[in-house]
Amino acid sequence: MKIAIEITYLVSSILFIMGIKNLSSPKTARKGNLYAAIGMFLAIAVTLLDQQVMTYEWIIIGALIGSIVGWLLAIKTPMTGMPQMVGMLNGFGGGASLLVALSEYYKKNPNYPVDFGLPFNLPVHEGAAIILSLLIGGVTFTGSMIAFGKLQGIVTGKVVKYPLQHPFNALLLLFVVVAGVFVVLNPSLMSLVLIITLVSLVLGVLLVLPIGGADMPVAISLLNSYSGLAGSMTGFILGNNELIIAGALVGASGIILTNIMCKAMNRSLMNVVLGGWATAGSSGPAAASTTSPKGDVKSIDSEELAMLLDSVSSVVIVPGYGMAVGQAQHAVRDLANILEKKGIKVRFAIHPVAGRMPGHMNVLLAEAQVPYDKLLSMEDINDDFANTDVVIVIGANDVVNPAARHDQSSPIYGMPILNVDYAKTVIINKRSMNVGYAGIDNELFYYPNALMYFGDSKDAISKLVTEIKNL
Ligand code: TAP
Repeated sequence: MKIAIEITYLVSSILFIMGIKNLSSPKTARKGNLYAAIGMFLAIAVTLLDQQVMTYEWIIIGALIGSIVGWLLAIKTPMTGMPQMVGMLNGFGGGASLLVALSEYYKKNPNYPVDFGLPFNLPVHEGAAIILSLLIGGVTFTGSMIAFGKLQGIVTGKVVKYPLQHPFNALLLLFVVVAGVFVVLNPSLMSLVLIITLVSLVLGVLLVLPIGGADMPVAISLLNSYSGLAGSMTGFILGNNELIIAGALVGASGIILTNIMCKAMNRSLMNVVLGGWATAGSSGPAAASTTSPKGDVKSIDSEELAMLLDSVSSVVIVPGYGMAVGQAQHAVRDLANILEKKGIKVRFAIHPVAGRMPGHMNVLLAEAQVPYDKLLSMEDINDDFANTDVVIVIGANDVVNPAARHDQSSPIYGMPILNVDYAKTVIINKRSMNVGYAGIDNELFYYPNALMYFGDSKDAISKLVTEIKNL
């Protein structure tokens, strides 16, 4: 039986790896999801067959409650609330690792529950895994809950600073490490294990609290990576190879995603992690630029825009957060279809951090059945803008702000952007002249080749489609 379980674990680990590989492209993402789901099903099924499982009642009760809560959350959470939902799920992963580590520590004491304080032997690697699981699991749990609270508006989204913040956090971390070494050397120090747990939980709060709301999605991606590491540590405690591999995969992919997000937002990981320490010139509503562009803004209505589009040969559509808010993806697809029917070449330009979560625009456009090969990444499309007749920006702001290229005083200076201003004409659809996520005005709106097309994205694009049909 043991061999059969280990072989199934190996097969499911391979399925996880194939899943992640396929998830890296929108074309194969569904297949990847399926591979990973089959891998997870096999892993769970074979674990339940393990001889060590004495009774199934609690497992069934837990699975039922978890499934119902998960199902309700998935149904009720809007697309724009996904980052905080992911944050909360990471937190539960960390919390589960912490609870398993604690219970395994108790179980491994042969004197439990009588004479718990008597010395007992715990292999060094198991003791170390328990301490690391408590530390990483605790930090992930409370850190993720704070991240959730910040994005949900329950906890302040501002950068929270207090005196000696970083030395104090470093001291707490040092305490956990030193106390952990004591526990590994003398496993019967039960109260120290509880103190380590408590300090780890406090550390999670203190580490995430200073990070501003603007950086929270990056922090969540980092916490996702931590939850993988915590799971991996739990695998070492339980001697479960599957958990070690799956946790390592989550840890590694989480850190890669964090890195991609940092690059796309022009932030260094240190800058994000240290929050309040390194905010000068950083992105985020609090750090808005003081120099607002001035000038005339020209606007266009749906009828004029339909006429303008009647005489062009190439259009690039740039979706942003406003398309998600207005749920305009289906209207946008209709627009692309009707333009293509007129013989116009239509493509979509996707900025890596457009919207509020990685792949936000890809997911919405895929939902509206826009073919994947029409979605071009920033690197692939940026050189083409100069040869494009019309760019239609739908609810995007920061990711097309030319100040990022030249205005050193701008909080988004250095962030790679879509060079939409190089096109012959740029149409910008949004409801007002309001700022975007970074909290800064956009000089693009005042450019001579820019025309504002005001209105809610769904209404405005639907109206445009009707006008084009009426031509
Ligand atoms: P933003 O810069 O946030 O701008 C969105 C614009 O959409 C707003 O200016 C808003 O203007 C408009 N809008 C809102 N609701 C609308 C609606 N119903 N119809 C039409 N327009 C609407 O968006 P972006 O260009 O996509 O940039 C994303 C920002 O989020 C970047 O700063 C990025 O760094 C940040 N960020 C992204 C991520 C990821 S991973 N995607 C994670 C964290 C942070 P009005 O109010 O005038 O309509």
